[in-house]
Amino acid sequence: MSFPGPGRAASNRGRGDPMEPRPPPAKKFKTSLSGQRRDHAFIQEREQQRRGLPIYRVRGKLIGQLRQLDTAIIIGETGSGKTTQIPQYLYEASIGRQGVIAITQPRRVAAISLAARVSEEKNTELGTLIGYTVRFEDLTSAESKIKFLTDGMLLREAMGDPLLRRYSVVILDEAHERTLHTDVLFGIVKAAQRKRKEFSKMPLKVIVMSATMDVDLFSRYFNRAPVLYLEGRQHSIQIFYTKEPQNDYLHASLVSVFQIHQEAPPSHNVLVFLTGQEEIEAMSRTCREIAKHLPQGSPQMSVFPLYASLPHLQQLRVFQLGQKDCRKVILSTNIAETSVTIPGIKYVVDTGMVKAKRYTPESGLEVLAVQQVSKAQAWQRAGRAGRQQSGICYRLYTEGEFEKFLNMTVPEIQRCNLASVMLQLLALRIPNILTFDFISKPSPDAVRAAIEHLELLGAVERKDNQIVLTPMGKKMAAFPLEPRFSKTLLLSPEFHCTEEILTIISLFSVDSVLYNPLAKRDEVHSVRKKFISSEGDHMTLLNVYHAFKNVGGHKEWCRENFVNSRNMTMVAEVRRQLRDICAKFGVQLESSRSDTGNIRRCLAHALFLNAAELQPDGTYATLDSRQPVAIHPSSVLFHCKPSYVLYNELLHTSKCYMRDLCVVDADWLYEAAPGYFGRKLKGAKS
Ligand code: CDP
Ligand code: MG
Repeated sequence: MSFPGPGRAASNRGRGDPMEPRPPPAKKFKTSLSGQRRDHAFIQEREQQRRGLPIYRVRGKLIGQLRQLDTAIIIGETGSGKTTQIPQYLYEASIGRQGVIAITQPRRVAAISLAARVSEEKNTELGTLIGYTVRFEDLTSAESKIKFLTDGMLLREAMGDPLLRRYSVVILDEAHERTLHTDVLFGIVKAAQRKRKEFSKMPLKVIVMSATMDVDLFSRYFNRAPVLYLEGRQHSIQIFYTKEPQNDYLHASLVSVFQIHQEAPPSHNVLVFLTGQEEIEAMSRTCREIAKHLPQGSPQMSVFPLYASLPHLQQLRVFQLGQKDCRKVILSTNIAETSVTIPGIKYVVDTGMVKAKRYTPESGLEVLAVQQVSKAQAWQRAGRAGRQQSGICYRLYTEGEFEKFLNMTVPEIQRCNLASVMLQLLALRIPNILTFDFISKPSPDAVRAAIEHLELLGAVERKDNQIVLTPMGKKMAAFPLEPRFSKTLLLSPEFHCTEEILTIISLFSVDSVLYNPLAKRDEVHSVRKKFISSEGDHMTLLNVYHAFKNVGGHKEWCRENFVNSRNMTMVAEVRRQLRDICAKFGVQLESSRSDTGNIRRCLAHALFLNAAELQPDGTYATLDSRQPVAIHPSSVLFHCKPSYVLYNELLHTSKCYMRDLCVVDADWLYEAAPGYFGRKLKGAKS
């Protein structure tokens, strides 16, 4: 693979002040985030860093403008200081003191780490003045005035109070990512702002923040709200494209990393954008192997994976300064595109690929698939190379290919299953979903498919030409879960297995509780054997949980069994919260004990839309749309061929894989939805 001379340089993307944030010194960053007291020098340094941010130069002016405006759109390069500084500026200038300042984030890791950072900058304990709320975790108190929360959590809060009365300011951050929840929140906060004005209640200030220049849409949607541009400094970035299209982006990125490694001084760190955990872990291993066998005199290399479900402490390692003479190579998903800021990157290697949701309403199929990024995403990625010095971005595609990328990322609302969000909108008493003031309308087909999906789950019904929630639907909406999972919980008393279903749902609501270091594959395989259930992954995880409980959550046991004890503790916490909601509805908490049939039957009754059937040729097809699918290699059923399975999700890589499977009987599926399955099942009663 070879790159011709420099392509289009990105130096025109933002000019201005030469001040650039300095990276935090590793030692203090770590001690501080682990909650220990910070000394005087540390506090001073944080203060200095705040003053060094590009946004600091315009602080006075910005505060003046934000004081005046009801709604503002703020644009600024990543790293200019929007997210960490604007909430503090508002607070320091006593803007919105009557209530709480909310800042939404599309990802939980961002919400947590930003709250920790800002709390450090203000030298307060996290959870006091500054807190965060993410699903199943609320670190706020009555004192909290600045609150970071995921967009999903704010939407959930709106279900309790559509006027969002406790908030004086809502900042919708990373708006360019156009996640489903942020898109819906646009409509919710716009309506809340208008209604609060009408009823002469405390005014609601709305601030939309984005890293891309394409903001007309936001401004128009908010009645031509003014757009404030922050001059974030960006060093020049040289872009190189490949001469020829690459058919193996993994191989191409490996070659690029080692080309850079051979040529550039070791202090120049490299950030590679890949698509997902498995790929990143495999590539980390390969890089380390190759680095070990380089000729004498080659610089050292340390490789860091970075993805959302990586344990928190390991994520933090990415931000620490490396040793001198040792190059850091960070292999990341698109989480490094906007959510987190990594210091010291000189080179970016962009594969041009991302794993994202794709949805076809006709077939009802929602799959995670590896696909091309948009131009906006590619620019965002390149921008990561020029944060502290001029940088270089290697694009592993040709310029011609780049020209064919979509300009902007398609909003998630136009490419995912809307059942969950429709249920929430109905719970918000939005009278007609079809006329809801969406910033970008979802397709009518997708809305129709979502309503059908909710009808099949018994969550909605039609009354006088209106779609309304059934009593079951109202209960379902109260759980912070996808509709199919809240349905499973609510059905479980019929099958006398609520305790087990609570555990299973909690296990699938946190990041993976099992970790599988590739280097110890054989050892992992042999210690895990004792948990494996021939009935599938749900039952296997249930066994792991029971074993964990039996040893009282012992850390050593977790280590020996490659169980992530932090995530397992989180499972117990999630379970407690879900159990409380069940108790509120008077759901009977029974255990099915050793009868796993009941548990699987219950799962079949709620997850029947995610079922697949073995075909005569040994492959599988989904029952819903006859999509050919295969069992994912990570499943305990990988080498088995049960006739019918349920799956939690579909993942499209080289083929369409089902992940997290449970063996079921055809009869159970038929019982669950006779009308629906009458047409679909071959092997069941008819
Ligand atoms: O929102 P925006 O991308 O404009 O910047 P920010 O998130 O407010 O971050 C401003 C600067 O603070 C970054 O460039 C980092 O130097 C620093 N920062 C950090 O070191 N660690 C964090 N968790 C967040 C910010
Ligand atoms: Mg930001």
